[in-house]
Amino acid sequence: MTPAPQNLPPVSPAAPPPAMIDLRRVVKKFKNAAGEFTVLKGIELHIGRGEFVSIVGKSGSGKSTLLNMITGIDHPTSGQVIVNGQDLYTSLNESGRSLWRGRNLGIVFQFFQLLPMLSLLENVMLPMDYAGLYDFDERPRRARQLLGMVGLEQHAHKLPMSVSTGQQQLAAIARALATDPPLLVADEPTGNLDSRSADTIIELFTSLAAQGKTVIMVTHDPSLTERTNRNIIISDGELIADAVALALPLLSHRQMLQVTRQTQPHTFAPGQAILLRDAEVDTFFIIEEGEVEIVLQGKNRADATVARLGRGQYFGEVELLRGGKSIASVRASSTSPVRLLGLPRAAFLATLKESPLTEEAIARSVQSRLQENRAQDRRSVVDALSGTIKKALRRSS
Ligand SMILES: Nc1ncnc2c1ncn2[C@@H]1O[C@H](COP(=O)(O)OP(=O)(O)OP(=O)(O)O)[C@@H](O)[C@H]1O
Ligand SMILES: [Mg+2]
Repeated sequence: MTPAPQNLPPVSPAAPPPAMIDLRRVVKKFKNAAGEFTVLKGIELHIGRGEFVSIVGKSGSGKSTLLNMITGIDHPTSGQVIVNGQDLYTSLNESGRSLWRGRNLGIVFQFFQLLPMLSLLENVMLPMDYAGLYDFDERPRRARQLLGMVGLEQHAHKLPMSVSTGQQQLAAIARALATDPPLLVADEPTGNLDSRSADTIIELFTSLAAQGKTVIMVTHDPSLTERTNRNIIISDGELIADAVALALPLLSHRQMLQVTRQTQPHTFAPGQAILLRDAEVDTFFIIEEGEVEIVLQGKNRADATVARLGRGQYFGEVELLRGGKSIASVRASSTSPVRLLGLPRAAFLATLKESPLTEEAIARSVQSRLQENRAQDRRSVVDALSGTIKKALRRSS
């Protein structure tokens, strides 16, 4: 591939939006009888305000450990954890973190952990008591309101055991919201529920995120991840790049991680050329951020933009599989910079060999792109011909 022209001005990095969660090179090691083992291997993670994010991964991949870093329940072996602007581990001690948690964080677990001897209303009031928030008289009113929000107002004075498990979980969510925290963290909140109760909870989380709260949910249920803004996959203590998971969804988590490790990041300015027609292509590109335009350039006719590709889509596969030169040019869209992940040819081909399903999916994509390009070429020829005919007619009239 022809590298992008180097004489263009570098992209000035846009100011990143203020993150709710910022994890930098977070490592967590545990010791057991057999020695030390690393559960989180240098996690970089940024989650914006108002995002509803799911986290998935096999059992033992490190999901709960990751949540424990974000909630300040456990501490990293190294690295930095900044949540809602607060560095949790370098500038707070244990009791400072506990106070911070009470005001900034709502936590929901799979097993609801309501206190069995207290009514739902009293359970919801507890965090306000702990954090010393709201007037003594206001607390029951607020707790009732929160129970109303999750549809449990008429059960406010019941003990947890006299309502259904789905209702207990809703009460646990009301309790997590007692101090109006900006961040809600839930570890398999629907793991113990029927699908209707799970549905109610996802709807509730969606509306909380729409109101500006950040919601992070660990789940094993793929049907739920489709309903979040973003799905994070953790595999063996490492995060898979979101764009890799979107582009190559038929790979196993282990294969996605392998691809993530083999990719190189590239950034292009708005309008900058990424690939020129007839250039040698030696990289499979996945779009991580922004949009690219695929442009067919014809002799004696105007360029035609045949496609716009966005986040999680890819290009370069046609040339890598057919062994040819670039069939079109690719440039960053004129409105925003583009971030790409590039996977070298050998790694791309090895990945397809390992995953026949992915190979089939990519082969189908190649077919439809070639057809689309041929159709576009025909349209261009017809356009050019009809232009010539019109001109000839004008001359003759
Ligand atoms: N306190 C601890 N001491 C020692 N090892 C631990 C501790 N907590 C977790 N581990 C180990 O760390 C690894 C990741 O555990 P974690 O609980 O984060 O996995 P998970 O992805 O949440 O799994 P699951 O889906 O089963 O809940 C596992 O091997 C686990 O045994
Ligand atoms: Mg877990």
